[in-house]
Amino acid sequence: MKRNLILYLSLFFLAVIPLTSFSSEKSDQKSNLPSELYTPGPKPEPRINGPLVYGCRPGHPFLYRIPCQGERPISFSVKGLPSGLKLDASTGIISGIVPAKGDYELIIQAKNSKGKDIRKLKIVSGDKLALTPPMGYNHWYAHYDRITDQMMREAADVLINSGMADVGYQYVNIDDCWMNAPKNNDPKRVGPIRNAQGNIIPNSYFPDMKGLTDYIHAKGLKAGIYTSPGTLTCGGFAGAFKHEEQDARQFAAWGFDFLKYDWCSYGHIASGGSPEDKNIPTWGKGAPTLEGYQYPYKLMGDILKKLDRDVVFNLCQYGMGDVWKWGGGVGGHCWRTSGDLGFELDRIFDVALKNSEHREYSKPGEWNDPDYIQIGWIGNANNMGIPELTPMPANMQYAYMSLWCLMAAPLIYSGDMSKLDEFTLNVLCNPEVIEVNQDPLGECGLVIKKSDQTFLMVKNLVDGSKAVGLFNRGKSEAEVEVNWSELEISGKQTVRDLWRQKDLGKYQNKYAAQVPAQGVVMVKIGK
Ligand code: GLA
Repeated sequence: MKRNLILYLSLFFLAVIPLTSFSSEKSDQKSNLPSELYTPGPKPEPRINGPLVYGCRPGHPFLYRIPCQGERPISFSVKGLPSGLKLDASTGIISGIVPAKGDYELIIQAKNSKGKDIRKLKIVSGDKLALTPPMGYNHWYAHYDRITDQMMREAADVLINSGMADVGYQYVNIDDCWMNAPKNNDPKRVGPIRNAQGNIIPNSYFPDMKGLTDYIHAKGLKAGIYTSPGTLTCGGFAGAFKHEEQDARQFAAWGFDFLKYDWCSYGHIASGGSPEDKNIPTWGKGAPTLEGYQYPYKLMGDILKKLDRDVVFNLCQYGMGDVWKWGGGVGGHCWRTSGDLGFELDRIFDVALKNSEHREYSKPGEWNDPDYIQIGWIGNANNMGIPELTPMPANMQYAYMSLWCLMAAPLIYSGDMSKLDEFTLNVLCNPEVIEVNQDPLGECGLVIKKSDQTFLMVKNLVDGSKAVGLFNRGKSEAEVEVNWSELEISGKQTVRDLWRQKDLGKYQNKYAAQVPAQGVVMVKIGK
């Protein structure tokens, strides 16, 4: 209880503190734009992106849209496709039923009038999901309690039309406020919580959940939903308390592929607030014990494993009880390591450095989650505002994305999809930077050589090379250097600038770069 109180008090104080250092200057993003966009535009010939490994469970529905850039029409073909799966050659969508337990090595080819590309993909049919960090969209930081079915469909459209899906974004996730609330300013979000059978009823803005997921799935994308183990969600809408299995089965029947499970009002129960229910253990008065933190997540994790659908399980409880130590053990695929990033957007570097302290718990299928990518048009989290263009300096946005990729964090964009601009897409859609995020080793970068102003973050990659972020948190440009001895490598090494997708040459002993203020240079170093 006390920890909860502290959490919510700190959320409250953060909410009333004057906004971020950059936003108090009210800088116009355009004046912060770098003289060049970092990511080169996609070429006309095909470039297949996406993970090299993909986990799924035998006998469950399978859906995978091959992320691929290049001028359409593109014609796809796949060698090694197990029986039960079929490819739509013009959309690149693979669908069907997950084959028996085992590894299946596919060779994907994409061809258009300008050229072709080939890439391997290993399907791992077993008990693991999210073998690489989930990528997608979540509505929260743009639309809060204004979200509708129509807006989710439009988000799915934009994920495809903007090219985001072509670099790997695939989940289209509804956050809070799709259910009814006992009370709300909007009468159309107030109504019966459950029907006579106890099934949860979506509010009037979500008239057809199955229709919505069908719409998303038809594009080869996946759909996500949100609830709380408590009686109420953080937004005051109906939670799953005492209906956990019924709700999970309903979500699966609707066709959802991802569940965010947000602690919210459960704190009251965990700290002894439900003594009348003999089936729900309570943990005495005061702060929940470790068992108290784990209980609702283990309960839901066990339920999800029994479903006949693959549902990625996203724990959202802000890092309480050192969730990184046990999130995977209760069936979680990713877990928030801190409070809402919407309140701390001026502290991106601090939040990232804190998150990276839990690096030893990052592995395929189990990811530390420092919260969403909030750039472009986002609403002020303090008042659930209407989206405005972020005042975050452009270079800091590249640094933000670099940190999330180096830390193998889930890449979930949470801004207004209807207002995506060229610059925001340039930050979100660099396939070489994203490839670092999706690397099959699943390592979270290690911070080395940290000073007040600069630091290095290093991530080992599956091909034996290393991705290195040279970060500058200061307000002026700085030279940042990485020595081979710090990376435990020697000799001549090829250095490639990942943002510009350009080889910089071979370097002996070290590489040094001028890093812009509050920015990054991100390189790949290898023989
Ligand atoms: C909490 C979560 C957010 C969002 C809101 C919804 O604050 O941390 O990500 O889901 O609840 O109410």
